[in-house]
Amino acid sequence: ELSPMDTAKFVAAKQATAYVESGMKIGLGTGSTAAWLVQCLGELVRDHGLQIKGVPTSNRTAALAREEGIEIITLDEAKWLDLTIDGTDEYDADLNLIKGGGGAHLREKIVASASDRMIVIADASKKVATLGAFPLPVEVLPFGMQTTRALIADTLIGADVLGHDVIQRMQGDAPYVTDEGNFIFDLHLKRIGNPRQLAMVLNQIPGVVENGLFIDICDVVIVGHGNGRVDVRD
Ligand code: A5P
Repeated sequence: ELSPMDTAKFVAAKQATAYVESGMKIGLGTGSTAAWLVQCLGELVRDHGLQIKGVPTSNRTAALAREEGIEIITLDEAKWLDLTIDGTDEYDADLNLIKGGGGAHLREKIVASASDRMIVIADASKKVATLGAFPLPVEVLPFGMQTTRALIADTLIGADVLGHDVIQRMQGDAPYVTDEGNFIFDLHLKRIGNPRQLAMVLNQIPGVVENGLFIDICDVVIVGHGNGRVDVRD
């Protein structure tokens, strides 16, 4: 009954629950793959006595986790997490990521960075040789956002990228607003030659809150396939 794509996401999420133990504090990612994870964890909590506390990376995931009966705490209550499990938009052979297609990469990066381990769950279409085909999300403060846009565009001129378009994310006719009340520029770069350097220079721009490059944060990628097979990369 599940489509091959949903099967891939589901089996990756299911496999990730093997890393979860009672007593753990878990960062809960955002997106359609992470939603499968929250469902799988909910079932383990309700039917198998799994005891976990979850820190959601978005208001959407918080609502879903509550529906599933998973106990929710804030990151500051948790202080530190055993594990974060999240989806991704792209991953490369070094397990560097582009995230933020769902607009949640700021909280996602804060949560993943406060975790002993980050596990990414993905369908095989997320694998890339070089990051950048997926537009890179950059969250910016509303204050001075056009100035920030100009500084981002300037930064891209000197960067090892192929595309330079900086497009404000919209939701219908209105600017997309993040859970933190900020805006997002999507950077259409096509190819990011040096993701580590780009992540650093973008975050040096004062109005930039956080970019969607996750460098040296992800420890394991669990890749699901449409036929139900699962690969683990670490
Ligand atoms: C949310 O902001 C993103 O980082 C998501 O993790 C990413 O978009 C993956 O979403 P899917 O699992 O729906 O592809």
